[in-house]
Amino acid sequence: MAQDRPLNHDEMLAVLDWYRAAGVDVAVGEEPVDRFAQRPPARVAPPQAVASAPAERPIEALPIGGDPQEARGLATSARTLDELQAILGRYDGCGLKLRATQLVFADGNPEADIMLIGEAPGAEEDRQGKPFVGKSGQLLDRMLGAIGLDRTKVYIANTVPWRPPGNRTPTPEEMALCLPFLHRQVELVAPKVVMTLGGPAMQTVFSTTNGIIKMRGKWSAVAIGNHQVDAMPTLHPAYLLRNPAAKQQAWQDLLSLRLKIEELGIG
Ligand code: URA
Repeated sequence: MAQDRPLNHDEMLAVLDWYRAAGVDVAVGEEPVDRFAQRPPARVAPPQAVASAPAERPIEALPIGGDPQEARGLATSARTLDELQAILGRYDGCGLKLRATQLVFADGNPEADIMLIGEAPGAEEDRQGKPFVGKSGQLLDRMLGAIGLDRTKVYIANTVPWRPPGNRTPTPEEMALCLPFLHRQVELVAPKVVMTLGGPAMQTVFSTTNGIIKMRGKWSAVAIGNHQVDAMPTLHPAYLLRNPAAKQQAWQDLLSLRLKIEELGIG
């Protein structure tokens, strides 16, 4: 029922509680924005993929209300990681973007032979615009350090580049819309080895519904987009923070990654 009196203290707390339960737990601006009053930008056809040298591209409006095929067209049109990042920055097809502070594209070395793929940015990643910079990122850095790696030797991305509200797992629809961009990111980095972190990243990359406990630590040759690569799932650092006993299994996986790196003469 509409009301024209200001909310009292208890009512305001109840509204805040309701927002928090709905996953709205961070303010993204100083002033409220009525998104229902905003007009969506005009739809545009995805640019055609071209094989020639990279060139400046005009910034055009990108569509709202994503369709995976359209996302694929946009993703494959990117000829460099910078172009892909710019396209994603303008892509409005995935609703996660509306609630996120910014795009969290990647961190690490784009020339690296080793790529890590996590699930989705959390609160700290959303603030800083970089993957794995919160508590689980600090543990990830220690895990990498334990096998002689650091962020100069790996490239890090997520299955979705915007923070899901309240850190929930991205929905299958959100993942499907972002997947073409991840595929293109992998194609452009062209790593020799991929390690996925946690169940959702594993299920996305390996196209499986198996659980992480069954799959972790096993290498397989997978096609990620058009890139064929040796990949292994391991446990997510956030899971390890909640279940320290599982670090033993993660350590086995890290040793297996170290061995693979030595076999391939990389890293
Ligand atoms: N967890 C993830 O999966 N990715 C991040 O970037 C941070 C936390």
